[in-house]
Amino acid sequence: MKATAKAHSNIAFIKYWGRKEEILRLPSNGSISMNLSNLFTTTTVEFNPSLHNDDILVNGERNNEINSRITKHLDRIRVLLQKKTYAQVVSQNSFAASAGMASSASGFAALTVAGVAAAGLQLSEKELSILARQGSGSACRSIPDGFVEWVDGNTSDDSYAHKLFDQSHWDICDIVTVISKEKKDVSTSMGQQTASSSIFFQTRLNNIVQKIHTCKELMKTRNFDEFGKLIEMEALELHTIMFTSWPSLIYLEPASLGVMKAVKRLREEGISAYFTIDAGPNIHIICLQKDIDHIEKRIKTIPGVLETIINNASRGSYLIDNHLF
Ligand code: DP6
Repeated sequence: MKATAKAHSNIAFIKYWGRKEEILRLPSNGSISMNLSNLFTTTTVEFNPSLHNDDILVNGERNNEINSRITKHLDRIRVLLQKKTYAQVVSQNSFAASAGMASSASGFAALTVAGVAAAGLQLSEKELSILARQGSGSACRSIPDGFVEWVDGNTSDDSYAHKLFDQSHWDICDIVTVISKEKKDVSTSMGQQTASSSIFFQTRLNNIVQKIHTCKELMKTRNFDEFGKLIEMEALELHTIMFTSWPSLIYLEPASLGVMKAVKRLREEGISAYFTIDAGPNIHIICLQKDIDHIEKRIKTIPGVLETIINNASRGSYLIDNHLF
Protein backbone atom coordinates (compact mmCIF):
# COMPACT_ATOMS: atom_id res chain seq x y z
CA MET A 1 0.00 0.00 0.00
CA LYS A 2 1.17 3.51 -0.86
CA ALA A 3 0.57 6.38 1.58
CA THR A 4 1.35 10.09 1.47
CA ALA A 5 1.49 12.52 4.38
CA LYS A 6 1.89 16.25 4.66
CA ALA A 7 3.57 17.55 7.82
CA HIS A 8 4.09 21.15 8.84
CA SER A 9 7.32 22.35 10.36
CA ASN A 10 7.15 24.06 13.76
CA ILE A 11 8.81 26.99 15.48
CA ALA A 12 9.70 26.42 19.13
CA PHE A 13 8.81 29.19 21.57
CA ILE A 14 10.49 27.23 24.39
CA LYS A 15 13.38 25.31 22.86
CA TYR A 16 14.55 21.72 22.95
CA TRP A 17 18.32 21.93 23.38
CA GLY A 18 20.19 19.09 25.07
CA ARG A 19 19.21 15.49 25.70
CA LYS A 20 19.09 13.39 28.83
CA GLU A 21 19.13 10.20 26.73
CA GLU A 22 20.75 10.04 23.29
CA ILE A 23 19.43 6.87 21.66
CA LEU A 24 15.77 7.44 22.45
CA ARG A 25 16.13 11.22 22.03
CA LEU A 26 14.72 12.13 25.44
CA PRO A 27 15.14 15.91 25.80
CA SER A 28 16.66 17.62 28.83
CA ASN A 29 13.52 19.75 29.12
CA GLY A 30 10.00 20.16 27.76
CA SER A 31 9.32 22.54 24.86
CA ILE A 32 6.46 24.51 23.27
CA SER A 33 5.86 25.27 19.60
CA MET A 34 3.50 26.39 16.86
CA ASN A 35 3.06 24.54 13.57
CA LEU A 36 3.78 26.69 10.52
CA SER A 37 1.33 26.92 7.62
CA ASN A 38 3.79 27.56 4.79
CA LEU A 39 6.75 25.38 5.74
CA PHE A 40 5.91 21.74 5.15
CA THR A 41 7.13 18.40 3.85
CA THR A 42 5.18 15.99 1.68
CA THR A 43 6.31 12.34 1.76
CA THR A 44 5.10 9.20 -0.02
CA VAL A 45 6.09 5.74 1.26
CA GLU A 46 5.48 2.30 -0.21
CA PHE A 47 6.82 -0.97 1.24
CA ASN A 48 7.70 -3.11 -1.79
CA PRO A 49 8.78 -6.79 -1.43
CA SER A 50 10.71 -6.63 -4.74
CA LEU A 51 13.18 -4.00 -3.42
CA HIS A 52 16.63 -5.05 -2.13
CA ASN A 53 17.29 -1.76 -0.35
CA ASP A 54 15.34 1.29 0.73
CA ASP A 55 15.04 3.59 -2.29
CA ILE A 56 15.05 7.16 -0.94
CA LEU A 57 14.65 10.39 -2.92
CA VAL A 58 14.65 13.63 -0.88
CA ASN A 59 14.15 16.97 -2.64
CA GLY A 60 15.04 15.36 -5.97
CA GLU A 61 18.35 13.91 -4.71
CA ARG A 62 19.17 10.28 -4.10
CA ASN A 63 22.30 10.50 -1.92
CA ASN A 64 21.35 12.72 0.95
CA GLU A 65 23.23 12.70 4.25
CA ILE A 66 19.86 12.24 5.93
CA ASN A 67 19.28 8.87 4.15
CA SER A 68 20.85 6.75 6.90
CA ARG A 69 18.56 8.44 9.48
CA ILE A 70 15.58 7.74 7.19
CA THR A 71 16.55 4.06 6.87
CA LYS A 72 16.89 3.81 10.67
CA HIS A 73 13.43 5.33 11.01
CA LEU A 74 11.99 2.88 8.48
CA ASP A 75 13.61 0.11 10.59
CA ARG A 76 11.55 1.33 13.59
CA ILE A 77 8.39 0.96 11.49
CA ARG A 78 9.57 -2.48 10.23
CA VAL A 79 9.94 -3.60 13.85
CA LEU A 80 6.27 -2.71 14.41
CA LEU A 81 5.32 -4.37 11.13
CA GLN A 82 7.40 -7.47 12.02
CA LYS A 83 8.54 -7.74 8.39
CA LYS A 84 11.84 -6.82 6.71
CA THR A 85 10.30 -5.28 3.57
CA TYR A 86 12.22 -2.37 2.02
CA ALA A 87 10.48 0.85 1.10
CA GLN A 88 10.41 3.42 -1.65
CA VAL A 89 10.35 6.95 -0.20
CA VAL A 90 9.95 10.23 -2.07
CA SER A 91 9.95 13.41 -0.01
CA GLN A 92 9.71 17.06 -0.96
CA ASN A 93 10.10 20.16 1.24
CA SER A 94 8.36 23.45 0.53
CA PHE A 95 11.58 25.18 1.67
CA ALA A 96 15.40 24.86 1.72
CA ALA A 97 16.44 22.03 4.04
CA SER A 98 19.03 22.28 6.85
CA ALA A 99 19.04 26.09 7.14
CA GLY A 100 17.49 26.21 10.58
CA MET A 101 13.98 25.89 9.21
CA ALA A 102 13.30 22.64 10.97
CA SER A 103 13.35 20.41 7.90
CA SER A 104 13.96 17.44 10.18
CA ALA A 105 10.79 18.25 12.17
CA SER A 106 8.41 18.20 9.21
CA GLY A 107 10.52 15.56 7.45
CA PHE A 108 10.39 12.94 10.19
CA ALA A 109 6.77 13.75 11.05
CA ALA A 110 5.72 13.19 7.41
CA LEU A 111 7.85 10.03 7.17
CA THR A 112 6.28 8.68 10.38
CA VAL A 113 2.66 9.29 9.34
CA ALA A 114 3.15 8.08 5.74
CA GLY A 115 5.32 5.12 6.79
CA VAL A 116 2.91 3.88 9.45
CA ALA A 117 -0.07 4.15 7.06
CA ALA A 118 1.89 2.47 4.23
CA ALA A 119 2.65 -0.40 6.63
CA GLY A 120 -1.08 -0.75 7.26
CA LEU A 121 -0.64 0.02 10.97
CA GLN A 122 -2.94 2.15 13.04
CA LEU A 123 -1.29 4.24 15.75
CA SER A 124 -2.76 6.90 18.03
CA GLU A 125 -1.53 10.51 17.85
CA LYS A 126 0.50 9.86 20.99
CA GLU A 127 2.13 6.75 19.49
CA LEU A 128 2.92 8.62 16.26
CA SER A 129 4.51 11.43 18.27
CA ILE A 130 6.67 8.96 20.26
CA LEU A 131 7.79 7.32 17.02
CA ALA A 132 8.50 10.64 15.25
CA ARG A 133 10.56 11.81 18.25
CA GLN A 134 13.03 8.97 17.75
CA GLY A 135 13.73 10.16 14.19
CA SER A 136 14.19 13.81 15.19
CA GLY A 137 13.17 15.30 18.53
CA SER A 138 11.34 18.34 17.19
CA ALA A 139 9.38 16.10 14.78
CA CYS A 140 7.21 14.88 17.67
CA ARG A 141 5.79 18.43 17.92
CA SER A 142 4.76 18.40 14.24
CA ILE A 143 2.29 15.53 14.79
CA PRO A 144 -0.51 17.29 16.77
CA ASP A 145 -2.31 20.37 15.39
CA GLY A 146 -1.84 24.02 16.32
CA PHE A 147 0.06 25.07 19.45
CA VAL A 148 1.88 22.12 20.97
CA GLU A 149 3.74 21.06 24.10
CA TRP A 150 6.35 18.27 24.19
CA VAL A 151 6.53 16.90 27.73
CA ASP A 152 10.11 15.74 28.33
CA GLY A 153 9.26 12.50 30.15
CA ASN A 154 11.63 9.97 31.69
CA THR A 155 10.88 7.00 29.45
CA SER A 156 10.16 6.71 25.75
CA ASP A 157 6.47 6.15 26.42
CA ASP A 158 6.00 9.38 28.34
CA SER A 159 8.02 11.70 26.09
CA TYR A 160 5.60 12.94 23.43
CA ALA A 161 3.83 16.06 22.20
CA HIS A 162 0.20 17.01 22.68
CA LYS A 163 -1.98 19.86 21.48
CA LEU A 164 -2.25 22.82 23.87
CA PHE A 165 -4.55 24.95 21.70
CA ASP A 166 -6.08 24.59 18.30
CA GLN A 167 -4.59 26.64 15.42
CA SER A 168 -7.62 28.96 15.62
CA HIS A 169 -6.86 29.88 19.27
CA TRP A 170 -4.53 32.77 18.40
CA ASP A 171 -3.91 34.54 15.09
CA ILE A 172 -0.23 35.27 15.69
CA CYS A 173 2.15 35.03 12.74
CA ASP A 174 5.70 33.99 12.09
CA ILE A 175 7.51 35.98 9.40
CA VAL A 176 10.48 33.77 8.61
CA THR A 177 13.31 36.03 7.50
CA VAL A 178 15.56 33.91 5.30
CA ILE A 179 19.20 34.92 5.54
CA SER A 180 20.91 31.84 4.24
CA LYS A 181 19.81 28.75 2.34
CA GLU A 182 23.20 27.09 2.77
CA LYS A 183 23.49 23.85 4.69
CA LYS A 184 24.66 24.63 8.21
CA ASP A 185 28.20 23.64 9.28
CA VAL A 186 27.13 21.89 12.47
CA SER A 187 23.89 19.88 12.53
CA THR A 188 21.45 20.36 15.40
CA SER A 189 21.98 16.70 16.27
CA MET A 190 25.64 17.45 17.04
CA GLY A 191 24.77 20.67 18.88
CA GLN A 192 22.25 18.84 21.06
CA GLN A 193 25.13 16.69 22.34
CA THR A 194 27.39 19.57 23.39
CA ALA A 195 24.71 21.77 25.02
CA SER A 196 25.52 20.54 28.54
CA SER A 197 29.13 21.79 28.22
CA SER A 198 27.90 25.39 28.61
CA ILE A 199 28.26 26.78 32.13
CA PHE A 200 24.77 28.27 31.70
CA PHE A 201 23.06 24.98 30.89
CA GLN A 202 22.26 23.98 34.48
CA THR A 203 20.93 27.49 35.22
CA ARG A 204 18.61 27.09 32.23
CA LEU A 205 17.33 23.75 33.54
CA ASN A 206 16.79 25.23 37.03
CA ASN A 207 14.33 27.77 35.58
CA ILE A 208 12.74 25.94 32.69
CA VAL A 209 9.73 24.37 34.42
CA GLN A 210 8.55 27.77 35.66
CA LYS A 211 9.22 29.28 32.22
CA ILE A 212 7.10 26.61 30.49
CA HIS A 213 4.28 27.21 32.96
CA THR A 214 4.40 30.99 32.38
CA CYS A 215 4.54 30.54 28.60
CA LYS A 216 1.40 28.37 28.61
CA GLU A 217 -0.48 30.90 30.78
CA LEU A 218 0.46 33.78 28.46
CA MET A 219 -0.68 31.76 25.45
CA LYS A 220 -3.94 30.83 27.15
CA THR A 221 -4.74 34.49 27.94
CA ARG A 222 -3.30 35.69 24.59
CA ASN A 223 -1.04 38.20 26.35
CA PHE A 224 1.04 38.97 23.27
CA ASP A 225 3.60 41.45 24.65
CA GLU A 226 4.50 39.42 27.75
CA PHE A 227 4.61 36.28 25.60
CA GLY A 228 6.83 38.03 23.03
CA LYS A 229 9.24 39.19 25.72
CA LEU A 230 9.46 35.67 27.15
CA ILE A 231 10.14 33.95 23.81
CA GLU A 232 12.70 36.53 22.69
CA MET A 233 14.62 36.06 25.95
CA GLU A 234 14.36 32.29 25.47
CA ALA A 235 15.92 32.53 21.98
CA LEU A 236 18.76 34.69 23.34
CA GLU A 237 19.26 32.16 26.15
CA LEU A 238 19.50 29.34 23.57
CA HIS A 239 22.15 31.20 21.57
CA THR A 240 24.04 32.11 24.75
CA ILE A 241 24.29 28.40 25.47
CA MET A 242 25.41 27.76 21.89
CA PHE A 243 28.10 30.47 22.12
CA THR A 244 29.40 29.07 25.42
CA SER A 245 29.40 25.35 24.60
CA TRP A 246 32.51 23.61 23.38
CA PRO A 247 32.98 23.48 20.45
CA SER A 248 31.15 26.80 20.37
CA LEU A 249 28.29 27.20 17.93
CA ILE A 250 27.85 30.51 16.13
CA TYR A 251 24.86 30.21 13.84
CA LEU A 252 24.07 33.93 13.55
CA GLU A 253 25.25 35.91 10.52
CA PRO A 254 25.67 39.71 10.31
CA ALA A 255 22.26 39.98 8.65
CA SER A 256 20.70 38.00 11.53
CA LEU A 257 21.86 40.71 13.93
CA GLY A 258 20.56 43.35 11.52
CA VAL A 259 17.08 41.80 11.68
CA MET A 260 17.22 41.35 15.48
CA LYS A 261 18.07 45.04 15.93
CA ALA A 262 15.38 46.08 13.45
CA VAL A 263 12.79 44.16 15.49
CA LYS A 264 13.85 46.06 18.61
CA ARG A 265 13.58 49.36 16.70
CA LEU A 266 10.10 48.43 15.48
CA ARG A 267 9.07 47.97 19.10
CA GLU A 268 10.39 51.43 19.98
CA GLU A 269 8.09 52.71 17.23
CA GLY A 270 5.11 51.00 18.82
CA ILE A 271 4.89 47.79 16.73
CA SER A 272 4.51 44.59 18.73
CA ALA A 273 7.11 42.30 17.15
CA TYR A 274 9.48 39.83 18.79
CA PHE A 275 12.08 37.47 17.39
CA THR A 276 12.91 33.86 18.01
CA ILE A 277 15.76 31.88 16.43
CA ASP A 278 16.49 28.16 16.04
CA ALA A 279 19.84 26.58 15.18
CA GLY A 280 20.55 28.68 12.12
CA PRO A 281 20.91 32.26 10.91
CA ASN A 282 17.27 32.80 9.91
CA ILE A 283 15.16 34.98 12.19
CA HIS A 284 11.52 34.22 12.97
CA ILE A 285 9.58 37.42 13.66
CA ILE A 286 6.51 36.70 15.74
CA CYS A 287 3.86 39.38 15.26
CA LEU A 288 0.17 40.10 14.92
CA GLN A 289 -1.65 39.75 11.59
CA LYS A 290 -2.32 43.49 11.30
CA ASP A 291 1.38 44.41 11.39
CA ILE A 292 2.68 41.97 8.76
CA ASP A 293 2.89 44.41 5.81
CA HIS A 294 4.64 47.11 7.80
CA ILE A 295 7.18 44.69 9.29
CA GLU A 296 7.84 42.92 5.98
CA LYS A 297 8.49 46.18 4.14
CA ARG A 298 11.04 47.24 6.77
CA ILE A 299 12.79 43.88 7.00
CA LYS A 300 13.20 43.53 3.23
CA THR A 301 15.41 46.68 3.20
CA ILE A 302 18.02 45.00 5.44
CA PRO A 303 21.10 43.86 3.47
CA GLY A 304 21.45 40.08 3.46
CA VAL A 305 17.74 39.27 3.80
CA LEU A 306 16.94 36.91 0.91
CA GLU A 307 13.20 36.43 1.35
CA THR A 308 10.40 36.31 3.88
CA ILE A 309 7.87 33.51 4.39
CA ILE A 310 4.67 34.34 6.25
CA ASN A 311 3.13 31.63 8.41
CA ASN A 312 0.02 31.28 10.53
CA ALA A 313 -0.57 28.54 13.09
CA SER A 314 -1.56 25.38 11.25
CA ARG A 315 -2.40 21.72 11.52
CA GLY A 316 0.41 19.23 12.24
CA SER A 317 0.54 16.04 10.14
CA TYR A 318 -2.13 14.33 8.07
CA LEU A 319 -2.59 11.89 5.21
CA ILE A 320 -3.34 13.24 1.74
CA ASP A 321 -4.33 11.57 -1.54
CA ASN A 322 -1.76 13.12 -3.92
CA HIS A 323 1.09 10.61 -4.06
CA LEU A 324 4.56 11.75 -5.22
CA PHE A 325 5.11 8.58 -7.31
C1 DP6 B 1 17.11 24.70 18.04
O1 DP6 B 1 14.89 18.34 16.51
O2 DP6 B 1 16.61 19.15 14.87
O3 DP6 B 1 15.35 23.96 16.60
O4 DP6 B 1 16.55 15.52 17.67
O5 DP6 B 1 18.84 15.90 16.85
O6 DP6 B 1 16.94 15.93 15.22
P1 DP6 B 1 17.39 16.22 16.64
O7 DP6 B 1 17.30 17.79 16.87
P2 DP6 B 1 16.26 18.82 16.28
O8 DP6 B 1 16.56 20.08 17.22
C2 DP6 B 1 15.82 21.27 17.14
C3 DP6 B 1 16.53 22.31 17.89
C4 DP6 B 1 15.97 23.72 17.86
C5 DP6 B 1 14.98 23.97 18.99
C6 DP6 B 1 13.61 23.34 18.86
O9 DP6 B 1 13.08 23.18 17.74
O10 DP6 B 1 13.03 23.06 19.92
